[in-house]
Amino acid sequence: MAADDLTLRVAPGGTLAGRLRVPGDKSISHRAIMLGALAEGETRVGGFLEGEDCLATLRAFRALGVDIQGPEDGEVRIRGVGLHGLRAPAAPLDMGNSGTSMRLMAGLLAGQPFDTVLTGDASLTRRPMRRVTDPLARMGARIDTSADGTPPLHIHGGTPLQGMDYALPVASAQVKSSLLLAGLYARGRTCITEPAPTRDHTERMLAGFGLAVERGEGRVCLQGGGRLQGTRIQVPGDISSAAFFLVGASIAPDCRLTLEHVGMNPTRTGVIDILRLMGADIRVENPREVGGEPVADLTVSSAPLQGVEIPPALVPLAIDEFPALFVAAACARGRTVLTDAAELRVKESDRIQVMADGLLRLGIQAEPTADGMVIQGGDPDGGEVDSHGDHRVAMAFAMAALRARGPIRIRHCANVNTSFPGFVPLAAGAGLPIEAEEDGA
Ligand code: S3P
Repeated sequence: MAADDLTLRVAPGGTLAGRLRVPGDKSISHRAIMLGALAEGETRVGGFLEGEDCLATLRAFRALGVDIQGPEDGEVRIRGVGLHGLRAPAAPLDMGNSGTSMRLMAGLLAGQPFDTVLTGDASLTRRPMRRVTDPLARMGARIDTSADGTPPLHIHGGTPLQGMDYALPVASAQVKSSLLLAGLYARGRTCITEPAPTRDHTERMLAGFGLAVERGEGRVCLQGGGRLQGTRIQVPGDISSAAFFLVGASIAPDCRLTLEHVGMNPTRTGVIDILRLMGADIRVENPREVGGEPVADLTVSSAPLQGVEIPPALVPLAIDEFPALFVAAACARGRTVLTDAAELRVKESDRIQVMADGLLRLGIQAEPTADGMVIQGGDPDGGEVDSHGDHRVAMAFAMAALRARGPIRIRHCANVNTSFPGFVPLAAGAGLPIEAEEDGA
């Protein structure tokens, strides 16, 4: 389905209640396929996210000669081929909308003896790739981009890689992970230092596959030439998907909603910290550990939210949740100020501009800045907004309808399926008056 052929319409006046389980974590699902493919022996994955982004990764590894069964009800079986068992694909690999697939695979494909071409959709082919190709070139990789540093990527195989010590200029888990995956194929040690903590699923999962990963404060190192041993992975629910419901049930009256089995990795929980600073009522219940990742049930109840200055240290820990947090700010009392978040301009859309445009259409004062936004909270009007094919923008505006004075129509929403298949029926079941219109556009 193209990104321009689904409109969501959400009526005002809903409340969210009951219990629900959001789909599996996108970052962990990608990595489970990648490491499972490179491991020796079988890897079984439960709770795999059957969204378009992770399916792009899965199809790419099939095209690289890996036998992958499923997904069936979230179960995937991967017959690992070992670090040196991938085969040259017959055609370019299409990564769809998925920046994670393209950036992480650039690292691991740079270490192969064959050439590959990585392509993507209109959004992905506008996103910056030099953040991975420049440091990979320092390791010896040869990767061509288009003149402005965007996809397609032409990765030349058969070039020996050398480990390196690299300080990331931007806090990016995708860049860190890409370099670590290249490091598996490099001579010597690869060490990455990050300017702020970013999600550490790659490091955790490599250790789960039996690789020695050295971790210190803001730093991770691995030795090339190791081996991965197939394992069992249980993927927790995606806190980035849960975030829409945390915001929705906070801003609408009379809500009490429990989200079961949500991943609570401390590099991902910034959204809870920021919402609590705003006055949200979120309880963390039954904390437990599943397959090397912390998990809990979250119960969220309606609460009056206050505008806040968002602490910059929390920004990388909530980087995907700002569309939802902007909606929380739009419904809060007073002013919310976000700074230090220029990365939002190079996500699936320019999330600063696209969210500010949509909030203005709903009558909320939203002032975009170079690296953030200033939002004066109020009561949103109904109206029509454009998600620009960005899944998280679409779902954030769907939640805004819970407090709007009229219905909200959201255009170009088909990409909700990249990260949250089944969002419409799940949200409707919890009490969001949402329906999908086929545009036929
Ligand atoms: C991701 C890292 C983040 C995030 C993206 C998924 C990952 O990107 O925005 O949705 O799985 O590593 P950056 O690392 O570029 O910030």
